[in-house]
Formats: sequence, structure tokens, C-alpha cells
Amino acid sequence: MPAPSARRILVTSALPYANGHIHLGHLVEYIQTDIFVRFQKLRGNRAIYLCADDTHGTAIMIRAQAEGRSEQELIAAMREAHLADFAGFQIEFDHYGSTNSDANRRLCGEIWQALRDRGLVVSRPIEQLFDPLAGVFLADRFVRGGCPKCGAADQYGDSCERCGATYGPADLAHPKSTLSGATPEVRSAEHLFVTIEALHGFLDTWTKSSGALEAPVANYLAGHFLCDPLRDWDVSRPAPYFGFEIPDAPGHYWYVWFDAPIGYLAATAEWCATHGEAFDAWWRRTAAGAPAAEIHHFIGKDITYFHTLFWPAMLEAANLALPTKVRIHGFLTVDGQKMSKSRGTFLLARTYLAHLDPAALRYYYAAKLSGGIDDIDLNLEEFAAKVNSDLVGKVVNLASRTARWLEHTGLTPEYPDDGGLFARAAADSAEIAAAYEACDFARAMRAIMLAADRANAYVDAEQPWKLAKAGPEAARKLQDVATVALNLFRQIAVYLAPVLPKLAADVGALVGGPIRSWDESQTPLIGRPVGPFSPLMQRVDAKQIEALLAASRAEAVSTGEPAMDQTPSSPATGADSGAALAAEPLAPTCTIDDFAKVDLRVARIVTAEEVPEAKKLLKLTVSLGGDSTRTVFAGIKGFHEPAALVGRLVVVVANLAPRQMKFGLSEGMVVAASGAGAEGVYLLSPDSGALPGMRLH
Ligand code: MSP
Ligand code: ZN
Repeated sequence: MPAPSARRILVTSALPYANGHIHLGHLVEYIQTDIFVRFQKLRGNRAIYLCADDTHGTAIMIRAQAEGRSEQELIAAMREAHLADFAGFQIEFDHYGSTNSDANRRLCGEIWQALRDRGLVVSRPIEQLFDPLAGVFLADRFVRGGCPKCGAADQYGDSCERCGATYGPADLAHPKSTLSGATPEVRSAEHLFVTIEALHGFLDTWTKSSGALEAPVANYLAGHFLCDPLRDWDVSRPAPYFGFEIPDAPGHYWYVWFDAPIGYLAATAEWCATHGEAFDAWWRRTAAGAPAAEIHHFIGKDITYFHTLFWPAMLEAANLALPTKVRIHGFLTVDGQKMSKSRGTFLLARTYLAHLDPAALRYYYAAKLSGGIDDIDLNLEEFAAKVNSDLVGKVVNLASRTARWLEHTGLTPEYPDDGGLFARAAADSAEIAAAYEACDFARAMRAIMLAADRANAYVDAEQPWKLAKAGPEAARKLQDVATVALNLFRQIAVYLAPVLPKLAADVGALVGGPIRSWDESQTPLIGRPVGPFSPLMQRVDAKQIEALLAASRAEAVSTGEPAMDQTPSSPATGADSGAALAAEPLAPTCTIDDFAKVDLRVARIVTAEEVPEAKKLLKLTVSLGGDSTRTVFAGIKGFHEPAALVGRLVVVVANLAPRQMKFGLSEGMVVAASGAGAEGVYLLSPDSGALPGMRLH
């Protein structure tokens, strides 16, 4: 039970997008936050760790459509997957919500009303690129084209990977929608904006003087944003959009980054509802002098300005409590480079779990994280070496070399003379705790490993394995030495408990019961039974790492999981509206015999050329296998580049009576779909493996 004087600390990690699986980059953040929260709980503070899936936005809408399922189905499945990955890494939330929840919708409405009441919402039309085939407005990352500065081809709509130039998607040369390949059009649409310039003064003060931000972050904001008037923040998107419709602006939806941070509030509200707590006790501003709850947000550096400008502005406008600390970490690289699918270093959480111990990564990240904004590198060789030398070689080895001598006798009834070792490590408590508090876990790990070194030196000097062979007269001394070593080991396990909860639980089972409090590092145990020793941790083997990389590479080429940096395999349209069916109702019923009269075959296009005199026609030669070819005129000109058609499999009506046309004899018909709802003529393709000449039944 936390003491009455305990701090109350609400802690969040950024809400992971529901459009992809958790990878080792995400885990830098979730492991870091989990360590911080476990540390606070171990210290007797009241900490709650809240998170949720971030479920709204264009990317999720597009992915759901590409996968042929509803957004609801997609986000439900991804939630299960996320929760399994987090559990696998021993990341323990007090509550895990979703931005697509009733609580979030209600809180978005409340914050919106507060912004309206303060006159901070304005409406005006903006021009944006629109995909006429997919029927959606395009976010910058869904447009690619030539860099307007250096001419590099195939760049994103916001910046050039080659020369680093930043620009708008409309500046691209030959822009193409990544959704459908169509050339986007500039269209105008009404958007709603928050005029955060009205809160400029507040943000100046808050970023500099509240203590929530490290000085370099405050300086960055001052130098990049707060030095100029703040641009209005575009917080609405016109339909179709997967999100919450704005109650007082039908047909318009809150932009995902509006409702995502409100997800922190929604998660709190849901947690409060099931724990008999008051939401206001965490997020309402308290009268001067009243002890307020602390609010700590852990985020990656890429989302800094959402959390340090927009979010505090929203909280200020709604008169809610402001973050105590925004703790910003850097990005993960693997072996010095950005995670890459082709190199096999785009490592998913679940792939890692199939090959390696989660505790190893938790420890490695802890040893790398110093609370700053620098990127952290997962060097796989160093990872194996560090885990093997520190955790297996120094920590676990202490117990494996000594616990078994105590299995029958238990710990000595009094604590033996250890030359001051236990007291010395106990005195490190304040320094280690301060390092954890500052999220300088690297410093905490170094101090703990020094204690482990001293303990190992003690065991090396006392040589219990010799005492064990020396006969009954040495038994007393052996019990003393083993009691000291096991106590030093357990003390280290207490300090490591935030990082290695499973090890801490196993140590508790071995001796002394579950580790519940940091203070257990201060007093040695005596006269306790010692359970049977079972291996606490395995060495990391180079073979496991090879297997992990191989599995990762295989995933990158498998078709199971469409990578989010690739174009979905089929063009996404707006919601399946039923317009096509309504415009062209079904034909009268036919019998199976009627259908059998039409001989549909798979065919391969071998040549394709334009018919210059005809507006719509392409002249195709199609092969039905062997040397059976046909000439077919198809009304698909303008929708397909002739060159791109060559080699492709299509479906033809093979027994259609030949027809003499102005340009030649047509010996069949290529089938294609068209209709209301989207312009275009869509050719049919069989699954891969089908061969020319195969009949459709
Ligand atoms: N959904 C938003 C956050 C909304 S918070 C109101 C988002 N999601 S994310 O899935 O892309 O990222 C979640 C967190 O993981 C972010 O803090 C992000 O910085 C972090 N990371 C994602 N990739 C990362 C690395 N490669 N390395 C370190 N952290 C990374 O952003
Ligand atoms: Zn460029």
C-alpha cells in the first residue's frame, strides 16, 4: 500500500498506430516507460501506466480497404496483436484503451466545445490534392513524384530523400497517388482550424518555465516555431475519413492527431471507472497548495511538437492539468542503420519473441537509455556480448554458483561478516534511484553492475566450491559465504526489478518471497529457506540472432503482411457505396446451361498497340496457350498503357462470334469491370499460377 505521502503519477506512452505491428523501435519507448512505472511502484508511489491504440485516420481506412475488411475488424485484430506483443515483453499497462471508444468521443466533444467557447475555432476552404480514382483527399505521404528542387524521381509529397528539400505535395513534378496511381487533382474543401496563435504567450511561458521540457527541447521550439506567429492548426478532414464526425460540422471529421492525445484522457476515464477513482483527481487543475497528480508523457522525438505545442494548448483551453514532464527519446537504429526490411533488420516484436528472451532486450535498452534525445543503436553483436557478460556472467552467475549450497540449510540465522559489501551496495540506493527517476537507466545499470562485480570478486576469493569439498569442518563457512553471495544477488535483483520483472519474480521464488519494495535492498535476509535452483537466464547465442534476421528477411518478402511503406495491392475506393449496383441492376436469371454457353478463358496479352483512329480502342493479340492466338479490340484505351499490358493475364470470351470492325476482325472479347462509383475500366486478373487456356467455371 502506498504511503499517504506517496506521489501520484500518471504515465503514458504514445499510442501506437493500429495500422501496423509493434517493432523493436516502438519497444524503445514502451520498455522505457514500463521500467519507469515499475520503478515508481517499487518505490511505493502510486503510478498508473495508461496507453491505447491510435485507431483513426486515412492510413487505417486505406489498409482496411486493401485487406477487404472493415476498419472495426482491422483495429480489433491489431489490438489483440499489440496486446500480445506487449505482454510478451512484460510491458504491464494499468489500462489499455482505444481512441475509437465512447469515452474518447465524449472527451473530444468536451475539448472541442471548450475551444469553440474560447473562440479558437475558425473555418475556411483549403486546396488539397484529391485522388479521383480512390475518391479521397491525399495526405502528403500518399503522393509521390519528382523533387521540385533536384529532380529526384519518386519522392514523397513533403520532402526529398535525396536532397532534403521540403515542399508541398502540389509542388511535385508528375505527382501520382500511391493509392491508385492516378494523377491527383487540386480540389478545394472546407476545413476547421484551431487558432493556437491566441495561446502563443501561454506556450512561450510553459515551454520555457514549467520544467516539463529539457532545455534543448524548449530551445528547439523557441527557434523553430515560437519565434514566428503560430500557424492555425488544421483539425478537420472531409468525408470519407475513419474517425469521429464533428458534432457541429456534419460531413467533417476530427483529424487523427486531434483525437489521439485526447486518448490519454479517455484511458484515464476508463481506468477511473473500473477503479472507483475520480477523473478530476488526475486531470483537473488543483487549487494552489493542493497536491496535484504528476503527468508524465513518454514520446519519440518525431512527435515532439504535437505534444509540446498542440497538446498543452488544448489542455490549457480546456482548463485541464498540464504535463509535468514530456520525456522524449531518440530513434532506434539497428547496426547503425535505419531499420530495413531488405536487410532483415525491420524487427517485429513477435519475431524477436520467437527467437530470443524478452529480458535480454529490456536489459540492453536499459543499458543504452540515458534519458536524452539521442538515437540508440541496437548493435546485435554488442547486444549478445552485453547480455552474456552482464546478466548471465555477472548477475545470474552469482546465484548459480552459490544457491545450491543452501538448498538444505537455508540462510544463516545471522548475517555473516561480508566486509561491508551489502552495506556498500545498500548505500548506492539513492544514486541508483536518482538515475531511474531521471530515466538515466544506463547510469543505474552501471552502478548495479559495479555492485555485481564486487560480489563476484567476493565469491572468487572465498571459493565456495573448494569449501564444499573440504568436508564437514568447512560447512559452516560454506553456509556463510553462500548466504552473503545470495543476499548480494537478491539485492541486485531488487535494483534490477524494474528492468527484469521476471528475474525478480524468480529470485523471490528462490529466496525471500516476491520482491515488493525498493527497501528490500536495505536489509539482508537471514534464517530463510532457499528453494531449488533452476537456471534463471540463458546465454544469447549468435545462432539465435542469425535465425531472427533470417526470419525477419523472410517476412519482408512474404505476402502475408502488406508493408505500410508499400502501395496497397488494389486501388482503394471510397466506402463501398453500392452505387455501381444501383446504377446497373442485375440481369434476369440465367441457368447454368446458359452460362456454360459462354466460354471464358485465361489469356496472356502478347502485343498491345493503340488504334490511332479510335478514341477508346487498343488492338491486342492474346494467347490461349500453345500457338493459339487471337486478335481482340478492347475498349480500354486511356485507362491502360499498352506497354504495361504486355505479358499480363486477362480473361477473354473465347467463343464470341468474330466481328468485322472498321480496323480489322475482332476474334473475342477481353472482360473488364466498369460502372458507377469510379471512373475507369478494370481488367480482371486470375490468381498467380493460372495458365493461358484455362477455362473459368
Ligand atoms: N500514433 C502516434 C502517437 C499518438 S500519441 C497521442 C504515433 N504512433 S507510432 O506507432 O508511429 O509510434 C508510437 C511511438 O513509438 C512514438 O512515440 C514513436 O516516436 C515511437 N517510435 C516509432 N518508431 C520508432 C523507432 N524506430 N525508434 C524509437 N521510437 C520509435 O506516432
Ligand atoms: Zn531533391
